Amino acid sequence: MNERWTYPPMTRLREPAQANLESMHRIFTVPEAPDSTLGRIDQAISDNLAGFLQDHIVAVERDLVEIERDYSQSRIPEEPMYVSHYTEFLKDKLVSQSVHTASPGFIGHMTSALPYFMLPLSRILTALNQNLVKVETSRAFTPMERQVLGMLHRLIYTRDDAFYGEWIQNSRHALGAFCSGGTIANLTALWAARNCLCGPAEGFKGIAQEGLPRALQHLGCNGLAILVSRRGHYSLGKAADVLGIGRDNLVAVDTDDRNRIDMASLREHCARLRAEGIRPLSLIGVAGTTETGNIDPLDELADLAQELGCHYHVDAAWGGPTLLSAKYGGLLKGIERADSVTIDAHKQLYVPMGAGMVLFKDPTALAAIEHHAAYILREGSRDLGSHTLEGSRPGMAMLVHAGLSIIGRKGYELLIDQGIERARRFAQDIEAHPDFELVTEPELNILTYRYNPAWVQAELAAAPAEKAARINEVLDKVTETMQKRQRENGRTFVSRTRLAPGRYRGDRITVFRVVLANPLTTDKILSSVLDEQCEMAGTEEILVLLEQIRQLCAKAGSLPV
Ligand SMILES: Cc1ncc(COP(=O)(O)O)c(C=O)c1O
Repeated sequence: MNERWTYPPMTRLREPAQANLESMHRIFTVPEAPDSTLGRIDQAISDNLAGFLQDHIVAVERDLVEIERDYSQSRIPEEPMYVSHYTEFLKDKLVSQSVHTASPGFIGHMTSALPYFMLPLSRILTALNQNLVKVETSRAFTPMERQVLGMLHRLIYTRDDAFYGEWIQNSRHALGAFCSGGTIANLTALWAARNCLCGPAEGFKGIAQEGLPRALQHLGCNGLAILVSRRGHYSLGKAADVLGIGRDNLVAVDTDDRNRIDMASLREHCARLRAEGIRPLSLIGVAGTTETGNIDPLDELADLAQELGCHYHVDAAWGGPTLLSAKYGGLLKGIERADSVTIDAHKQLYVPMGAGMVLFKDPTALAAIEHHAAYILREGSRDLGSHTLEGSRPGMAMLVHAGLSIIGRKGYELLIDQGIERARRFAQDIEAHPDFELVTEPELNILTYRYNPAWVQAELAAAPAEKAARINEVLDKVTETMQKRQRENGRTFVSRTRLAPGRYRGDRITVFRVVLANPLTTDKILSSVLDEQCEMAGTEEILVLLEQIRQLCAKAGSLPV
């Protein structure tokens, strides 16, 4: 046996790991002792990257058009190249032009720092190159993936030991499907829901066999619909498209002033659909909306789904790991009533990109999409590929297993709590600052705001609708310009999106979006983000825009300072 690849028994580890904020920070910064196998591999890679990325979001800012020129050759290279030469090319043209998503100042997207051990462990994955589609190419990886699905299932549905004893390694079923991310997870959930609703029955072989038109005929309806709030992720549109439901039948329901689905409006849509002979396939609750981090009323949605007799899916791609926090897990109350739940491990479980999951309450639910092939995925085999949309898949579950084992529930809890509390403090700072406007308060660890000088805020408060809309248009340009300049400056990064907050009578405004999941982001860094934006407010291009607002106000007869 090759000694190098044995997993060290727990007892051989030096001392039990402690879950405290300091140790959690260490795993994002301090590599394993350099003389360990992991340490040696890691060191070599980090040494090479460190010189390029440093503290900047992008090490050397080059125009994207210029970068495209480096990649415009369409001929496959005729002659071989030394790896060392190729690595030089990567260093110069790729690494130096990539985005430092791990930077504590990169707070605009859902991609953050990774614990140091993910890097060397990923190399083990590549070295073993297991294919999770079937046991013949993955062996122990298959039961490990099943275990990971079981752990996440238990986190959501809290069933007892006897339940998991029966189902976790049950060869005929799977508690969920592991996939490349939230998009495929959402699609898989709705695929299973569709096939279950339109399953085989007397005189009908099922939608999987006979297709949608025959299914609708069989159900006696004019179409199927999926209902989700306006804040639902765009992946649901793809699912509606691929599954033949049609994007027009993905109903975007209005939200309340906290970006949560408006239940009265949802009920009105359901009544309208019934009148049109369209049957609700699924209600979807979002637990952590992509743009604002809000959570739908999951219990109320469960009640309605029960009333309608339709599938209930919760998209917890972002917010799912909040369940690991004893303090904030309750925010997701009602998730345990969902028929299926999406969780992305490559978001708040701090696993590299390419790890998503959908979990099903009913351990036999995935039978609705079961498929077989003669050479693999034979009936009765333990192959996980018989319940997944994707075919060949890497053993990413190993990295989720690593995270859950090394960081532990308590470690994740600290990280989750810290993100939520930091977001709250940052929101307070924004509110206390006269020249910023907090647009959406953080429920989890995402918030939005904009630069809006005190005098403009006063004008907006008193302005009639039309004037307010025109002021907001100019403020949108301010936000857009500042966001671009900040990205180009390369010290910190926030993203931007467009929202329609209630106080602007439905006008859509452009806002900065902040996602606080990087454990290394400090309050000091956050205040430097605001400082940088205030500095930018004094630059020529922003002053010109503010002058436009002054003129708008003056025309309307008021006197801004
Ligand atoms: C709520 C939600 N659902 C689904 C997705 C899609 O996930 P992925 O990008 O992993 O496919 C995202 C991604 O941001 C998301 O925020």
